[in-house]
Amino acid sequence: MVKVNGNYLKLQAGYLFPEIAKRVAKFSQANPHSNLIRLGIGDVTEPLPKACSFAMKKAIDEMSTPEGFHGYGPEQGYSWLREKISEFDFKKRGCDISAEEIFVSDGSKCDSSNILDIIGDGNRIAVTDPVYPVYVDSNVMAGSTGLANAQGRYDGLIYIPITAENLFIAEIPKESVDLIYLCFPNNPTGAVATKRQLSEWVNYALANKSLILFDAAYEAFIQDETLPHSIYEIDGARDCAVEFRSFSKNAGFTGTRCAYSVIPKSLKGKTQDGRDVDLWSLWNRRQSTKFNGVNYVVQRGAEAVYSHEGCMQVKGLVNFYMENACIIRNNLKEVGYEVFGGENAPYVWIKVPDRMDSWGFFDFLLEKANVVGTPGSGFGSAGEGYFRLSAFNTRDNVEMAMERISSLK
Ligand code: MLT
Repeated sequence: MVKVNGNYLKLQAGYLFPEIAKRVAKFSQANPHSNLIRLGIGDVTEPLPKACSFAMKKAIDEMSTPEGFHGYGPEQGYSWLREKISEFDFKKRGCDISAEEIFVSDGSKCDSSNILDIIGDGNRIAVTDPVYPVYVDSNVMAGSTGLANAQGRYDGLIYIPITAENLFIAEIPKESVDLIYLCFPNNPTGAVATKRQLSEWVNYALANKSLILFDAAYEAFIQDETLPHSIYEIDGARDCAVEFRSFSKNAGFTGTRCAYSVIPKSLKGKTQDGRDVDLWSLWNRRQSTKFNGVNYVVQRGAEAVYSHEGCMQVKGLVNFYMENACIIRNNLKEVGYEVFGGENAPYVWIKVPDRMDSWGFFDFLLEKANVVGTPGSGFGSAGEGYFRLSAFNTRDNVEMAMERISSLK
């Protein structure tokens, strides 16, 4: 009989969001007339920017003609999209990232877990706590951890707590680690590292020859102009960091699927016998073998994000969701909740009332306000006592959710 990957058996319960969906489905079945408002998973609700849907329609029409038909595309993404990304997302911000260093993909969740294909065994791996669960679960699946303890922390991972005391910015570890996951704007807390804080991480990584996996999927939501959008705004980051970016949240591509990773050509890793190898070549090899690229139509849609109309429409979407975040923050503060995030990120991180834990607060809001959020403990044991609300919803739903929550106090 076939042998399975036993590492999967180390995983705890279900993946967070399907687990929430299961509980919500049970509640809905028992309460079929409840009018649920979902501020849990960070899934966008507004339609695609017109510039993107127009570009996709045009691309479909092209595909239906002999001259415009496209078969397999480049596994790395079409050069016209990679050039735009390099110019608009990096060069315009002073980052030295070339089109060749950009790999277009179908999502940051996929990229941030698939990257482990090119990472070897025996690394000391650090994650924050709380953390986007994909970083941890993909390491468990890859066999980089032992079993989980009673707090749900896996043996073999180094957890760096992010708490109200350190303003949810991970502090530099005392020990040396080989691989570090950082996410700014942070999912779930909404915190964003300053240039100085990010420089400390880059300096640490250079000094310790560590690799930073920098998830910047929410960079478009940064409002404070002094905050960095990319780790490559920091000197030296080309030599120690991979960056993940996405069109999911800024341009509403959660269902359409398009993202990219940046693997600078200067990034090096070591073989088990101590030779230097460049990560770009390994990732290029991995993608060529395991990926056929994002479809032509969707890449044309993503390209339209960089047109004048596309930029304006994406800005409109980002502003809309950030106004939602502001409404959530203000309403919750008014009725006495302690809130974090939501100023440069589409997530508001709430301290739950003293008498409850995160899942208790989840049940409370579900039952009493018919509002779905995400329990902080689902992101790690240091998230216990916190709760995440997402700003991705319609204005009516956000306002109604706030009215309902306010009336509970
Ligand atoms: C979240 O709610 O944390 C996000 O939707 C997760 C994701 O983008 O995969």
